[in-house]
Amino acid sequence: MAGKRSRSQSRAKRPDSASKVAAGTPIRVGIIGTKFMGRAHSTGWNGANRFFDLPRSIELATAAGRDPRETAAFAKRWGWTRGTTDWMSMLEGDEVDLVDVATPNNLHAEMSIAALEAGKHVACEKPLAATLDQARAMRDAAKKAARRGLRTYVWFNYRRCPAVALAHQLVKEGRLGRIFHVRASYLQDWGRAGTPLLWRFDSKVAGSGAHGDLNAHIIDMARFVTGEEFNEVSGAIEKTFVADREIPGGGGGAISGKGGRKSAKRGRSTVDDCVLFLARFSGGAVGTFESTRLATGNQNRNQIEVNGEKGSIRFDFERMNELLWWDDTLPSKLRGWSRIMCTNGGDHPYAGAYWPPAHLIGYEHGFVSECADIALDLADRAPVAPIPDFADAFETQRVLEAAIRSARERRPVKLKEVT
Ligand SMILES: NC(=O)c1ccc[n+]([C@@H]2O[C@H](COP(=O)([O-])OP(=O)(O)OC[C@H]3O[C@@H](n4cnc5c(N)ncnc54)[C@H](O)[C@@H]3O)[C@@H](O)[C@H]2O)c1
Repeated sequence: MAGKRSRSQSRAKRPDSASKVAAGTPIRVGIIGTKFMGRAHSTGWNGANRFFDLPRSIELATAAGRDPRETAAFAKRWGWTRGTTDWMSMLEGDEVDLVDVATPNNLHAEMSIAALEAGKHVACEKPLAATLDQARAMRDAAKKAARRGLRTYVWFNYRRCPAVALAHQLVKEGRLGRIFHVRASYLQDWGRAGTPLLWRFDSKVAGSGAHGDLNAHIIDMARFVTGEEFNEVSGAIEKTFVADREIPGGGGGAISGKGGRKSAKRGRSTVDDCVLFLARFSGGAVGTFESTRLATGNQNRNQIEVNGEKGSIRFDFERMNELLWWDDTLPSKLRGWSRIMCTNGGDHPYAGAYWPPAHLIGYEHGFVSECADIALDLADRAPVAPIPDFADAFETQRVLEAAIRSARERRPVKLKEVT
């Protein structure tokens, strides 16, 4: 991308930080949430110490959950020094330096703001919050806390797939030239009628359905890869196909509730199953976005294609080690889609920390790389790829909000309307 860097590409210069004072000392992490993301982040914090040569090591200090027995078992299994059912207890005193928020969306604001006020850095899951108001409060609290040297991070982990980070680099180097199209979709299929009424189907807890869950990722990825910001959203459609669902009887898998106990009670989903929209970008590109939990046969198909005047890139998380690349500057007899295996240590972002070429990495390595990048940033060293902070993630939340307004009011919505 030529010209001015967008928020997704850069960090504002910060005052001398708390972390600088503590350079060299371990970063003591406390996590809230012990299920799907609790496990993914624990893998990340543990793995970052082992795969990367970090300027500051990471200490897994405290894990907070809700059930005492489950929390104690989680802490033991994943290497946390202490387990607690009182997340606020980790904010008192000097037990942790950074709080990792891995709880449902409506809790992000309360937990993150309390942690910042207690003088902790915060790494919060996405979407930044369940509502724009909560997200704005988080952005403002982060801005205030930054004056005390505190930093914020948001777990948009797909930025740390080597192929996505490479796409970001290729655009930044100008290899795609002017960008015409962004075509992004995040397709899952676990939201069918048999899936119970988990918190992900409750708008008071989740804020939205596939939209905040999946569009948040591809909005962030589009901003990160292209370096352009959204100017306008239009033509949005928000649809709930399965409103009536079984109220879970307890237990079951973290995402789909699979294997949980049956119950005779039923309730209503108050979120979308899919949201589609069109977009215009600051550099003149146009884009299409689609997220759904009902794309039968697509289990975690997080895809983006960017078409520029000099080339195109295409990424699909179900083939996460590969970036497809079309170089239109080649003689026509040589042009074609190349499949770049993004596993070459010296060349591909993050690859050098893991295995020899074509010894593939997986979902968890994105979290390992993210934890390593956070540790680098807290030692005032540049992360491999920029990490979104609360201000950056607020920009993604504004796009989510613009799309919902466009769908409900059936009109184009300019981003400057959404503040
Ligand atoms: N980055 C990604 O790719 C990705 C993937 C999945 C989920 N997420 C996000 O991660 C967050 C958590 O999702 P998940 O899939 O781990 O959910 P989950 O249901 O598997 O786990 C939620 C955890 O939060 C805990 N919790 C809930 N209420 C609490 C409270 N009041 N106090 C303390 N702990 C509480 C639960 O006990 C549980 O341990 C959500 O914001 C979600 O959007 C991100």
